[in-house]
Amino acid sequence: MEILRSKKEMQAWSEGVLAQGLTIGLVPTMGYFHQGHLSLMEKGRPLCNRLVVSIFVNPTQFGENEDLDAYPIDIERDIELAGKTGVDAVFLPTRDDMYAPGFQTYVELTDLPNHLCGKFRPIHFKGVATVVTKLFNIVKPQVAVFGQKDYQQLQVIRRLTRDLDWNIRIEAGEIFREPDGLAMSSRNTYLSEEERSSALSLSKALERARQAVAEGTRDVTTLEQDVIRFISSFAHTTVEYAEFCHPQTLENVSTVEGKTLLALAVRVGNTRLIDNTVIDPDN
Ligand code: PAF
Repeated sequence: MEILRSKKEMQAWSEGVLAQGLTIGLVPTMGYFHQGHLSLMEKGRPLCNRLVVSIFVNPTQFGENEDLDAYPIDIERDIELAGKTGVDAVFLPTRDDMYAPGFQTYVELTDLPNHLCGKFRPIHFKGVATVVTKLFNIVKPQVAVFGQKDYQQLQVIRRLTRDLDWNIRIEAGEIFREPDGLAMSSRNTYLSEEERSSALSLSKALERARQAVAEGTRDVTTLEQDVIRFISSFAHTTVEYAEFCHPQTLENVSTVEGKTLLALAVRVGNTRLIDNTVIDPDN
């Protein structure tokens, strides 16, 4: 497995692969791998000839009071896990290489970021769209894999790819959960033991809403109130949002008709967790 530490090295490697008529797959990450990341690599592996994983904690997607400086890092372990998962190259650019002095070009979407997390993290999707654009330009993949836990991010990237006319197939990896239901996240490491058990309120609330829809409830105000009340009954939780939305546009809906996204963001202590599910009332 190759370790590529600069844009220049990465570009040269990709150009070499493409010159041989081979295809490249990319799994963009911020590192500190858990099983969820590895499942994205496993998903990408058969879809391309050469699989690249990028590890870059992207500063432009973190707000001023967010956890950029605390974000967990363990590059040696990540490299070992990527190797075992059949990755061909790990791209590890530095901040200065990605954002050289004088950097001033950003990529912004007009509508999708106005919903869900975007309302609470105003610069987040601008940072994500910008870094993903740069990663696509540097790595030159034909396929890229993103996790569905970051549901809004996935929609942003699908839209970005269409709007900028890239011929890149975007694949979605399922949410990977701990045996008790907690969605895997690098941020779970921030949780104390007590917070860890309150964090289960997210996946339980999704299941509860799914059950209520299956039993015939369609009114979104009723469903949202129940979800918020349920999560708030756990210690250390503050619900940031619990919303039912159209699964592509992310516009709010008032009744559950057809496939509907239920997305959650909850602070458990100081840790912000997200989770989601798509509910189909006809199934
Ligand atoms: O999902 C993530 O880890 C990041 O937002 C991404 C897509 C790697 C961009 O920095």
